[in-house]
Amino acid sequence: MCGIFAYLNYLTPKSRLEVLDLLVTGLKRLEYRGYDSTGVAIDSPDSKNIVMVKRTGKVKVLEDAIQEHFTGGEYSEPVATHIGIAHTRWATHGEPCERNSHPQRSDEGNGFVVVHNGIITNYNDVKTFLRKRGYEFESETDTEVFAKLVHHLWKTHPTYSFRELVEQAILQLEGAFAVAVKSKHFPGECVAARRSSPLLVGIKTKTRLATDHIPILYGKDDKKQTSDQETRPHGQTRELPVLPRSDSTSEFMPLEEKEVEYFFASDASAVIEHTNRVIYLEDDDVAAVRDGTLSIHRLKKSLDDPHAREITTLKMEIQQIMKGNYDYFMQKEIFEQPDSVVNTMRGRVRFDGNAIVLGGIKDYIPEIKRCRRLMLIGCGTSYHSAVATRQLLEELTELPVMVELASDFLDRNTPIFRDDVCFFISQSGETADTLMALRYCKQRGALIVGITNTVGSSICRESHCGVHINAGPEIGVASTKAYTSQFISLVMFALVMSEDRLSLQQRRLEILQALSNLADQIRKVLKLDSKVQELAKDLYQHKSLLIMGRGYNFATCLEGALKVKELTYMHSEGIMAGELKHGPLALVDDSMPVLMIVLRDPVYVKCMNALQQVTSRKGCPVIICEEGDEETKAFSSRSLEIPRTVDCLQGILTVIPMQLLSYHIAVLRGCDVDCPRNLAKSVTVE
Ligand code: AGP
Repeated sequence: MCGIFAYLNYLTPKSRLEVLDLLVTGLKRLEYRGYDSTGVAIDSPDSKNIVMVKRTGKVKVLEDAIQEHFTGGEYSEPVATHIGIAHTRWATHGEPCERNSHPQRSDEGNGFVVVHNGIITNYNDVKTFLRKRGYEFESETDTEVFAKLVHHLWKTHPTYSFRELVEQAILQLEGAFAVAVKSKHFPGECVAARRSSPLLVGIKTKTRLATDHIPILYGKDDKKQTSDQETRPHGQTRELPVLPRSDSTSEFMPLEEKEVEYFFASDASAVIEHTNRVIYLEDDDVAAVRDGTLSIHRLKKSLDDPHAREITTLKMEIQQIMKGNYDYFMQKEIFEQPDSVVNTMRGRVRFDGNAIVLGGIKDYIPEIKRCRRLMLIGCGTSYHSAVATRQLLEELTELPVMVELASDFLDRNTPIFRDDVCFFISQSGETADTLMALRYCKQRGALIVGITNTVGSSICRESHCGVHINAGPEIGVASTKAYTSQFISLVMFALVMSEDRLSLQQRRLEILQALSNLADQIRKVLKLDSKVQELAKDLYQHKSLLIMGRGYNFATCLEGALKVKELTYMHSEGIMAGELKHGPLALVDDSMPVLMIVLRDPVYVKCMNALQQVTSRKGCPVIICEEGDEETKAFSSRSLEIPRTVDCLQGILTVIPMQLLSYHIAVLRGCDVDCPRNLAKSVTVE
């Protein structure tokens, strides 16, 4: 959801055309996050002005516009030091159009230009404040107030450095955001900051960096700082907040390299082809580059702050985020599942010794075993992985297990106790609702366990302990391989918790055995692809699809329906088969498309009962059943057979045909598979 990409080359000559190419490629890597318009800003050929190009629609439209716009030979001249910023916008304030796209500017002369992710909640107050000082607004965005506020501060505090101006502006703003700012008044400098929206800095140098840490600075700067009387945006007259100052000057030891390139990005996929050395910024960090030197400052000092930000080496490979021979990222990610599930278990499950070690939580297991209850919290697909594994967790941990949608959990001000263990499940690790729920539980003293796929994400960093699901980068907005890996991570946790329960050993062995066969069984299910494609041809022109099941497969119904909705824009509902008689049966007739999951597990008889209820209302369901189950198959002319596995892992095999089905229906309906309309990969606003 919104993507920031900025590139600064210091003493590493690049033409403006090369810079533009880099910016556009960066935006392409962020496309999966979801957006509806784009924009870039670079220096004009005489370096005295800033030129912007913005477009509604895809990055490709922007790319074409750039080719048309920047035709002069002067754009091919190399420039030693330059900063370009770029953005993909997902509309929150104002319709998607060029006027509302980013960069947003401070004034007609483009003095300061800003790209922004997130929401500034007090933007109306700031706008009123600035209007009173003669500023006129050209967009409906909250972002524009940021650009204009920086400009106002620059006019009123001429001695402030660029970084100080941005810091002072941020101190006036409320909400969750990440920003990158460029200014013609401070050429070759970039300032970026985050508060609750992800942002990282990639560093590329010719030689290996001399340090792995960037010390954190508190307000110390090289320019005089004033504390003039100012009127705050919300109208009360009070002193403009002054940055906290550090007593010590010896802390100032930023990263200094002769020739260096910096990348500011919303996530690592945009920088990995340039560098694997990144710093994940924390909330209230302000990163500034000046004369090629990166320094990181804190807006607020807190006792538990580390003294430095670590430079992390990313393990991700560029190939992992490329489509390869697949038409869409989602398709690639569905077909990666035989490998991604193995990667989730790699180094953790020892099939020969029937042992499981989850390094990220092992020290906390005794505490978890003493807890009052387990709470599994997430949104969308991540929430479904909790639904899918709840029954097994209850069985193997013998603890009460609650599953919660993060948004609803917060709405209810749910009571949380110090002896609760709260799991936060999130592919991106940045989902605002999940993150808010995490902070809510942490404040109340609960143990926080993160289950994420994104190393360095906010949920990762703010958890006490956790499991990284290791599914690899998931680019398609629709979550597929992350779901099966979240599922397996929770199953592994259940197995760890039951390690010393004698009465559960047989059950554990059965599950471990099934886990060892899982990759091959997924490969087998994926062979159904062409059959599923044929089925999609039968279904794609319908308006609705009902997906029914119960027990371990209810989560597949919910997840399947979510996939159909988000990818195909068809109505779809996951129905608990036990609820049929309580309402949904009224929907069933000979024209309503129905899919039913009927497997040979403890609820088989009940599922057969539901199947008969549907067929006796002239419903013609597509059945997902076990390989060779002729008796069940006989109830329909259309069925998909999946290999037999242990009941609690069936959901991994039954969800794959649903992923394939939604994918093929989306293709047949001409939908944008990887970036469905109105949706974003990482939902960083509440
Ligand atoms: C699933 O296909 C969705 N795109 C969506 O429901 C997603 O799972 C949800 O937004 C939560 O995201 P997270 O796992 O990154 O927290």
